[in-house]
Amino acid sequence: MSFEIRPLTDDDVPAFRQEVSATFGYDTDLEDEAGAARFGAVFDNDRMFPAFDGHEIVGTGGDFAFDLTVPGGSRVPTAGLTIITVRPTHTRQGVLTAMVREHCDRAREREEPLGGLWASEVPIYGRFGYGASTVMSDVKLDARFAGRGGSEEGVTVRLVGVDEAKRLLPGMFDQVRVTRPGMYSRSEAWWKHRIFADPEAHRDGASSLRYVIAESNGGAVGYALYRQKSNWSTLADGEIRIRELIPVTASGYRALWHFLVSIDLFPIVKYWNNPIDDPLHFLLRDGRAAETKISDGLWTRLIDLPAALEARTYERDGSIVLRVEDEFCDWNDGTYRLSVSEGVAQCEAVVAEPDVSLPVATLGSLYMGGHSAQSLARVDLLQGDVDSVRRLDDLFPSYPAPWCHEIF
Ligand SMILES: CC(C)(COP(=O)(O)OP(=O)(O)OC[C@H]1O[C@@H](n2cnc3c(N)ncnc32)[C@H](O)[C@@H]1OP(=O)(O)O)[C@@H](O)C(=O)NCCC(=O)NCCS
Repeated sequence: MSFEIRPLTDDDVPAFRQEVSATFGYDTDLEDEAGAARFGAVFDNDRMFPAFDGHEIVGTGGDFAFDLTVPGGSRVPTAGLTIITVRPTHTRQGVLTAMVREHCDRAREREEPLGGLWASEVPIYGRFGYGASTVMSDVKLDARFAGRGGSEEGVTVRLVGVDEAKRLLPGMFDQVRVTRPGMYSRSEAWWKHRIFADPEAHRDGASSLRYVIAESNGGAVGYALYRQKSNWSTLADGEIRIRELIPVTASGYRALWHFLVSIDLFPIVKYWNNPIDDPLHFLLRDGRAAETKISDGLWTRLIDLPAALEARTYERDGSIVLRVEDEFCDWNDGTYRLSVSEGVAQCEAVVAEPDVSLPVATLGSLYMGGHSAQSLARVDLLQGDVDSVRRLDDLFPSYPAPWCHEIF
């Protein structure tokens, strides 16, 4: 088998879409014009890098251009790797490796210091220098035990239609996304085609999206998107499936959760992507009734290591010398001094004895501030003496915890 990475032309798009869906195990209806329009609006052919075997597409991949919030609130241009598939007849022959090569090289040319992705399986991306960087908590609670009811003084919740949601949601989202590392920008096309379009195929047997907003003194203080899935056993056992919950203020947060656990006939409330530092357990009458399953969210790769380290802020001033191994993006491989003075970071290549040695994937895990160097050292993902590793933990953590709001 031989293959090559070639540009994606408009003529190739139907085969490309079909290949993505076939590998993920579903079928694309190429007659569905809305689906084609959604694809065309959200994916940019110039950022795709399909692999061809002769005339056939056998590998799909591409990336989105995001602004990703990093600790301290800067927004860093980021190549968000997506729709990676390799036809089952062509796996384990280097197709993915060639596509990730393209992804990293192009991001470097475009001066995007970071790469990001959500992984279908954990073992795939570490070899390419990606590290799991945000953590999410998949929550399921039974409001009959956790506590139903409650309200937030001075805050009202209101169900709105899609037209009002289109006016109100993007502004609240933008307000919040710059405050939490791991959140990325949404274009107008993204809102239209990935959020509000809400095709039947995305509902998994549940209702269309409901939009609820919380308001205080006439101003919006948060929103949630959810679906309802009715379930009639002897008891009414329906589910609320939260797709996204974006509180702008603490009172908005409380009001939205109080509402979501109070909907008659729907006592089971599920949210697949709750931030790891979310205080829901303290809000509920019995927090233990919320079962949680922890898992990785966003994975991060430093494409331009000094630019990425300088783009974020750190918890305090200090300095540390890092020996970073990076075989896949060898321009990063080297020893760097990271110095933070009066809140401003500088990162330069140096010839010096390192305090800590680590592969670039571990730096990816540390970068967003959601993992501790001391924990990663315990599983040998970085090496250094106890004081140096502690110094990393003085610098890198982020409050609030990093969180990525949506799979891409
Ligand atoms: C994951 C996938 C893209 C890998 O493609 P591929 O072309 O077989 O990958 P490569 O041949 O470039 O493999 C590179 C290395 O990664 C390893 N690898 C690839 N996929 C792996 C997986 N799923 N689990 C463990 N290791 C994997 C290979 O064994 C190889 O290791 P080696 O260098 O030590 O030999 C492909 O299996 C696939 O399409 N899976 C289904 C869709 C999917 O999960 N996509 C990812 C979405 S985030």
